[in-house]
Amino acid sequence: MDEGRWAKAVLSRRSHRAFASEPSPETLSALEKTAKALSGNEITIEIFDGSGGNPVSAGIRKGTNCFAVIGRRSDAAAVAGYAGEAFILECEAQGVGTCWAWASCDRSAAQKLLKSGYKLDCVTPLGIPNDAPPERRLKPLTQLTGLSESEIAALFPWQKSALEYAQIAPSAMNKQPWRFVVSEEGVAAKRQGLMFALHDCGIAALHLEIGARVMGKVIKPIVL
Ligand SMILES: Cc1cc2nc3c(=O)[nH]c(=O)nc-3n(C[C@H](O)[C@H](O)[C@H](O)COP(=O)(O)O)c2cc1C
Repeated sequence: MDEGRWAKAVLSRRSHRAFASEPSPETLSALEKTAKALSGNEITIEIFDGSGGNPVSAGIRKGTNCFAVIGRRSDAAAVAGYAGEAFILECEAQGVGTCWAWASCDRSAAQKLLKSGYKLDCVTPLGIPNDAPPERRLKPLTQLTGLSESEIAALFPWQKSALEYAQIAPSAMNKQPWRFVVSEEGVAAKRQGLMFALHDCGIAALHLEIGARVMGKVIKPIVL
């Protein structure tokens, strides 16, 4: 993991829904390599140019026809969130805007693009951003941890950093369906809710890990 590169991407990333252009062929080929490296037995990430049809809703792909589809073996929701967010952060590091999308996509068309054995997880448009995302409502760390302001202030720097990076993780409908469980070994993401919560916790687990690593602490991604 190149935590410095992805840490910057965590801080700048927002969901984008309008684009000035598609990524350059060079950038797309670099992202193909990332997609391949992150894919494995449980997860598949594939990039398409849209020439064979586009399952991403027109309202979130203005200005680009490129997109990626993320698929998983059926029980790997948290792993898909984790690996998919790694892809999203690498896109951001390369100047490519994204938007995790489940509702805003033709799911049966997207499913048909996947290799057999994989279930659709999400899609994202890929393009050079040309919008200004609106302010987003973030839950306070006291609510996300159950800790008081003074207890949070007394945490180790790596614990605080992990929490701050996870607080700004994307989630379906911005529900932030997680609680962060802080211990001396790490910070786990505990699911709060059903629909997409496990998936969103996989995303948050990567952010927790990156936030801890930038302060020199290697923690395991744990989803409870
Ligand atoms: C699993 C998942 C599914 C999402 N589905 C959609 C979607 O269908 N349409 C959409 O416009 N945004 C979608 N989003 C983006 C969220 O609305 C967005 O992450 C959230 O509002 C926080 O904003 P931010 O990503 O700019 O931080 C999805 C995000 C996640 C993680």
